[in-house]
Amino acid sequence: MDLMAIGDKVHDETRQGEAFSPFANDPNRYAKHFYIESYGCAMNFADSEVIASILNNAGFGATRNLEEASLILLNTCSIREKAEQTVRKRLTEFRKIKEKTPGLLIGMLGCMAERLKAQLLEEEKLVDLVVGPDAYRSLPALIEEAGSGQKAVNVLLSRDETYGDIAPIRIDSNGISAFVSIMRGCNNMCSFCVVPFTRGRERSRDANSILHEVSNLVENGYKEVTLLGQNVDSYYWIDEQKDETITFALLLEKVALVSPDLRVRFSTSHPKDITDEVLHTIAKYENICKYIHLPVQSGSNRVLQLMNRTYTREWYMAKVDRIRELLPGCGISSDIITGFCTETEDDHRDTLDIMRYSGYDMSYMYFYSERPGTLAARRYTDDIPEEVKKRRLQEVVDLQGILSTQSNQNDLGKTFKVLVEGNSRKNEQEWMGRTSQNKVLVFPKKNIDEQLKGSYVMVKVTGHTRTTLLGERNKE
Ligand code: SAH
Ligand code: SF4
Ligand code: F3S
Repeated sequence: MDLMAIGDKVHDETRQGEAFSPFANDPNRYAKHFYIESYGCAMNFADSEVIASILNNAGFGATRNLEEASLILLNTCSIREKAEQTVRKRLTEFRKIKEKTPGLLIGMLGCMAERLKAQLLEEEKLVDLVVGPDAYRSLPALIEEAGSGQKAVNVLLSRDETYGDIAPIRIDSNGISAFVSIMRGCNNMCSFCVVPFTRGRERSRDANSILHEVSNLVENGYKEVTLLGQNVDSYYWIDEQKDETITFALLLEKVALVSPDLRVRFSTSHPKDITDEVLHTIAKYENICKYIHLPVQSGSNRVLQLMNRTYTREWYMAKVDRIRELLPGCGISSDIITGFCTETEDDHRDTLDIMRYSGYDMSYMYFYSERPGTLAARRYTDDIPEEVKKRRLQEVVDLQGILSTQSNQNDLGKTFKVLVEGNSRKNEQEWMGRTSQNKVLVFPKKNIDEQLKGSYVMVKVTGHTRTTLLGERNKE
């Protein structure tokens, strides 16, 4: 799944149709305020919305102003060493605020809290609370405990917690797109990955609560949902009342049927699990986006085996063929790791080769970062020198640049249905939206007062930059 921009996203003042936001309310309504920053993947951003809801019920309003907060929370990521360093650096910046704010509490939440547990309190003296991803319901009690001067920790992982009954509060939403968590945890054991240790066993959320959340979003004017899980294709829920087994394909269909005006996305698909049934469902519904994030990690069979990805390069390439066959024009993106243990130049060339074969529109690319406790850390030596890892990463990045440019050139002259998200970041005379294939498309406004946010418009691609398509609205 893609890693999001680090830190608090920019608040969009022009948000529309939001049901309830703690920001929108009279700030005096709450005696206490919390400030939250989220790091890492979309799951963490979605969790922060659940946390906001839990805290709101406990009498805390959200604030974007650090100085106003009586509780600062960092929802953290452990996926690579650098992700943890970023959080630690941020923490040191809070020291001054803590010194001049009596009673201010600082909490570490999320994957780093889970990985380091009470050890975090030893290492980071500023921290008062350590709360893992399955323990957010206990936050109000822990805050009280920490308020009385004790350090508070809850890092218990659960087999069934999905927060299914908690209505997330969309703290940093644009009012158009929302994340909807459909499952938690991961049962795969990719040898490089810390997630199974920080997020625990896989469990699926009650389909009825998912559909309820999606319906609410539609009622409140949202136009796009992204169904989230580490491995969405293994979603599985039995509705005992209706005697119905709900697979991911069926869930996708049910979500698509909530409203034809709602775009449906999902992330992440594991190449070993994505089925023809899912591909057929995507093909059947216009509102299910034609975009699949299908992380390959490596193109070498030997490395894939060491990574415990449980597919071969041939299997992966056959999946790409199948997507191209059943879903012509579908966007495909990937995650790639360079310099995994024992990776040779030949293995690396296999990765470049599979990238070319797959013709990715976009990739998230990383060099390998050993994570303590993972299978790879226990079994293999992290033996590729950093400069080699980085040089290979640069080659992967350069190749992706070429592939993305080719993909954009292929779009020239084509017309796409774009969901308008808001002003272009660079120029408020222009709109920014996304195609079904998840590409950003920027096009001029007719006039500055035009209201198009949250609308669908047909836009013809007339140019592109390295990362963005440029276009013009079709004459009506
Ligand atoms: N569940 C998702 C991945 C979540 S982590 C999936 O299976 O695709 C997001 C990405 O981070 C992974 O796909 C991988 O490319 C990268 N990643 C995970 N662990 C890493 C590590 N130890 N070093 C470098 N990159 C890593
Ligand atoms: Fe990590 Fe693999 Fe699970 Fe993704 S599928 S979260 S990479 S263990
Ligand atoms: Fe996500 Fe990072 Fe945790 S990628 S699941 S926040 S380790």
